[in-house]
Amino acid sequence: MIEIKTQEEFLRGLPKTELHMHLEGSLEPETLFMLARRNGVALRWDTPEALRAAYAFRDLPDFLALYFEACAVLCMERDFHDATAAYLRRAREDGVLHAEIFFGPQSFTDRGIPVAAMMDGILGAIEAAEDETFSAGLLVSVHRHRSEDAAFEVLRAILPWRDRILGIGMGGAEIGNPPDKFARFFRAAQEAGFPTMVHAGEEGPPAYVRQALDLGVQRIDHGVAAAADPALMADLAAQGVPLTVCPLSNLRLNVVASLADHPLATLLRAGVRVTVNSDDPPYFGGWVTENLLACADAMDLSRDEVIQIVRNGFDAAFVSEARRADLHARLTAYLAG
Ligand code: ADE
Ligand code: ZN
Repeated sequence: MIEIKTQEEFLRGLPKTELHMHLEGSLEPETLFMLARRNGVALRWDTPEALRAAYAFRDLPDFLALYFEACAVLCMERDFHDATAAYLRRAREDGVLHAEIFFGPQSFTDRGIPVAAMMDGILGAIEAAEDETFSAGLLVSVHRHRSEDAAFEVLRAILPWRDRILGIGMGGAEIGNPPDKFARFFRAAQEAGFPTMVHAGEEGPPAYVRQALDLGVQRIDHGVAAAADPALMADLAAQGVPLTVCPLSNLRLNVVASLADHPLATLLRAGVRVTVNSDDPPYFGGWVTENLLACADAMDLSRDEVIQIVRNGFDAAFVSEARRADLHARLTAYLAG
């Protein structure tokens, strides 16, 4: 019998990547409450449902306030381990074959938590989850609303784990904190041998995406503002710098009024290497599959365009060339089967 898959089943089963997902933003409200109870941390919501009901954000800073507040539930090595393990289980269920996890140590070093507790917890969970079909890695992220000196401190603190870190990035409140503010930091990270990426053009203007490109980063996170600047789009396409786009995040943070207005398809059709990712999935109402599904519906993406987006993810991933070929082959087999 011929099996007819729904679009959702097709997308969930599709071998794919997650290249832009923050560990701190991956906690389901139920997990957040469990960690709070375990660590004796008081929350200002009575139930997970009440917390979920608070997920209505005006903009990025409004979201970040709650996101940083919720970081209080992560305290010990086993919390970082369990949060990572829970995310990786969920990602696998979503058909993700390779996941890169952002994590920002500054929220925790502020509270005196040793970097070793974070790194050992996260990296231990990653190593336990990897097998011949599934791979994952850590991207250490610094906060752009803090100083460049504070970013340098992070870079120094994570050096003992350098061989197990896939790259160095930057997130946080964008407006008023352009990539250029961290030019020395990114140069130092690159000279230390790290691949680099930066959030740019999420709420910020196209000029921030141009600065990101000029910093020589391997990938730009979000980057959607580039769609307003045809010359910038042409340069992104020509240089092949991938964008890790997070459409449901952009919708929930009012970067776009609707997904029909989202520039993903414009960027894709201009030849920019766009990928689709989830950012902070429980906060924004979807994992990679839901992001792909919502975009395919709202933007009328063809099946070939969806497959191009997924292949862009394989090409943009920080994996060996052998693993990259393996990911492409698994997708080809899925499409044939
Ligand atoms: N940290 C977590 N999610 C973020 C986002 N969407 N933009 C910037 N920093 C973030
Ligand atoms: Zn992000």
